[in-house]
Amino acid sequence: MSSKKHARIIGMGSYLPSKILSNADLEKMVDTNDEWIFSRTGIKERRLAGETEYTSEMGAKAALKALENAGVAVEEIDIVLVASMTPDYISPSTAVIIQRLIGAKNAAAMDLQAACTGFIYGLSMAKAYIESGMYKNVLLIASEKMSAFVDYEDRNTCVLFGDGASAAVISKEHSGLSIDAICLGADGEMAELLYIPAGGSRQPSSTASLENRQHYIKMEGKELFKHAVRQMAGASKECLAKAGLSDTDISWLIPHQANVRIMDAVAKNFSMPKEKVFKTIDKYGNTSASSIAIALDELQQQYDIQKGEHLLLVAFGAGLTWGASVLTKI
Ligand code: ACO
Repeated sequence: MSSKKHARIIGMGSYLPSKILSNADLEKMVDTNDEWIFSRTGIKERRLAGETEYTSEMGAKAALKALENAGVAVEEIDIVLVASMTPDYISPSTAVIIQRLIGAKNAAAMDLQAACTGFIYGLSMAKAYIESGMYKNVLLIASEKMSAFVDYEDRNTCVLFGDGASAAVISKEHSGLSIDAICLGADGEMAELLYIPAGGSRQPSSTASLENRQHYIKMEGKELFKHAVRQMAGASKECLAKAGLSDTDISWLIPHQANVRIMDAVAKNFSMPKEKVFKTIDKYGNTSASSIAIALDELQQQYDIQKGEHLLLVAFGAGLTWGASVLTKI
């Protein structure tokens, strides 16, 4: 497949808060232990944003690094897209706050909500804007302050999630990672497998909702696990076919970092060796929309991806939502 006409990721940057929450720390907070957490999830530690370190601030820090790496001035950005399930406010968007923080005065700005699949959904929008000729430079940011919505009294969820942000500048003009193919999916029938019951129009915040801890993430982990493996494997195959590639053409698989056992089960569908599945979950846990973008950024810092190499991103999240994308270094 020719990469010439496709939109490209021309620069990336990430931001991880400095505070570490280890499994040992969690042992003091809920009835859990390092052995259970690591063997069931692959997580050793995760990062926690400070009290005044908001989703917007982490996103802005990642965005400034991405702009610098892309060699694009902030004034050249046409639109700021923010993928997040943990916005600063319900309204206005986190995108406008980031636009203000970084001074992207010529840019439009909006949020998109596809939970952990947000970065891939955002890539599809960026690709469409660029390839239609509507915009020249898109700034896509994935930022999550999961700790603001995690119940640190609920051992089923609090061990899994972490905070962090990553950003990508997408354009047509330079070399980078060509966005060759994207496949997206959703199944609203299972919307309540992972959700935050209160705080929206359906159940506005009230004393009762706070007392019942309804403003925190609720999750049915076992059910999600099954769907995650099935949908990520399916989306990967569909996307490879769309790109005209087979699994042996892929140099790296970069899955959403939710659980190491999910990643290993997805990788079993492919012939690539285990060490070609890129993982950051041990250090950062599940950072939702940010997770794939943080991993992609780290992969490029650690390895010199050569021209012609193909990468496969695949994600799954609340909604349910899922998606995959084939990127080619050009
Ligand atoms: N420490 C110790 N014990 C625990 C903990 C904990 N932190 N959490 C749960 N347990 C207990 C359970 O209560 C249960 O005990 P019981 O048998 O007495 O009831 C036991 O451990 C086994 O629980 P399971 O739910 O069967 O454990 P499982 O092997 O399924 O692992 C996990 C749970 C890690 C949540 C797994 O199901 C999972 O990762 N699911 C996917 C979750 C996910 O990906 N969510 C995010 C997707 S969407 C997004 O990323 C926004």
